[in-house]
Amino acid sequence: MPLVSMRQLLDEAAKGGYGVGAFNVNDMEQIQAIMEAAKQTNSPVIIQASRGARAFAQDNYLYHLMLAAAELYPEIPLAMHLDHGNSFETCKSAIELGFTSVMMDGSLKADGKTPATFEENVAVTKQVVDFAHERGITVEGEIGVLGGVEDGHGAGGSGLEHVTDPDQAVEFAEKTGVDALAIAIGTSHGAYKFSKKPDGSVLKMDILLAIHKRLPKTHLVMHGSSSVPKDLQDVINRYGGKLKETWGVPVEEIQLGIRNGVRKINVDTDNRLAITGAIRKVLWETPEKFDPRDYLKPAREAMQKVVALRMTQFGQAGHAGDYKAVSIAEIAQGYKDGSLSTKPLVADK
Ligand code: G3H
Ligand code: 13P
Ligand code: ZN
Repeated sequence: MPLVSMRQLLDEAAKGGYGVGAFNVNDMEQIQAIMEAAKQTNSPVIIQASRGARAFAQDNYLYHLMLAAAELYPEIPLAMHLDHGNSFETCKSAIELGFTSVMMDGSLKADGKTPATFEENVAVTKQVVDFAHERGITVEGEIGVLGGVEDGHGAGGSGLEHVTDPDQAVEFAEKTGVDALAIAIGTSHGAYKFSKKPDGSVLKMDILLAIHKRLPKTHLVMHGSSSVPKDLQDVINRYGGKLKETWGVPVEEIQLGIRNGVRKINVDTDNRLAITGAIRKVLWETPEKFDPRDYLKPAREAMQKVVALRMTQFGQAGHAGDYKAVSIAEIAQGYKDGSLSTKPLVADK
């Protein structure tokens, strides 16, 4: 299958009542791990690259690796998404390269740290939507700000300082016409999200439910959604690592989200943990080894295992063959004639 529109993938997920994991990549092995997990579970996939990934791998390598994935797995619907675009120019360059979906994270200023005003966020997101939709490309926006700064995205703090206001979410969706909306409900990027298993005082699923009630047709996105499983932490620490005790987002909370409008779930940290643990184990147990394949292969397998498990838990498993790709040109036509209009159907308060 050619690279497909993320909007099509999310619309199909909404029809089927499941969520789709969006997994971050920086290199070939991570793309291979995701595609093998997709094949194993017969899942549609979203692969996403951040600005950091684009700088690390270089755009052309990344794009051609994605084309290779589409070519090698023709039965898998695959969308290529820009994670946390920080400006119109970043989104434009991704679209011109061949990404089929972009996130304009206008919740923060272009530095990726300072919260932007609502008006600034609307203006830059709307600019991206106009440019992208004309070309059949999907746009994810963000309203509210994630906590933490561990990987350079986020306003710092606990994650509770800038939780999304449901009224603002409605106004934002209405004014921008985004296809998908990331909301802030207390999560943050990276491994250190919560100091104990989160409850409703720190993980605001009630806000998510309130937003879904007001915006029943909008595809909601959960960022910072790694579960940071103890077994993956333990492998790292057993083989010389130094992770402090920490908790992520429990899978059952994500599943509650999926029953309430969440269609895209961003996961990066769990895969980073799996890869690092596998590499540490090989180097610790067999220090004489120096062929990168000796540790990259187990690393790739460890990531595939995590991704396959999440695909099953999010419900996307089994759905790869449900539909055929709609061309990006047809999607563009849908935005033009209004059939793909995302102007929210706002439910009563
Ligand atoms: O948004 C956060 C993702 O985990 C990507 O992180 O910017 O370090 O590539 P990154
Ligand atoms: P995690 O750090 O929880 O994996 O979140 C990743 C993410 O939100 C990427 O945008
Ligand atoms: Zn994110």
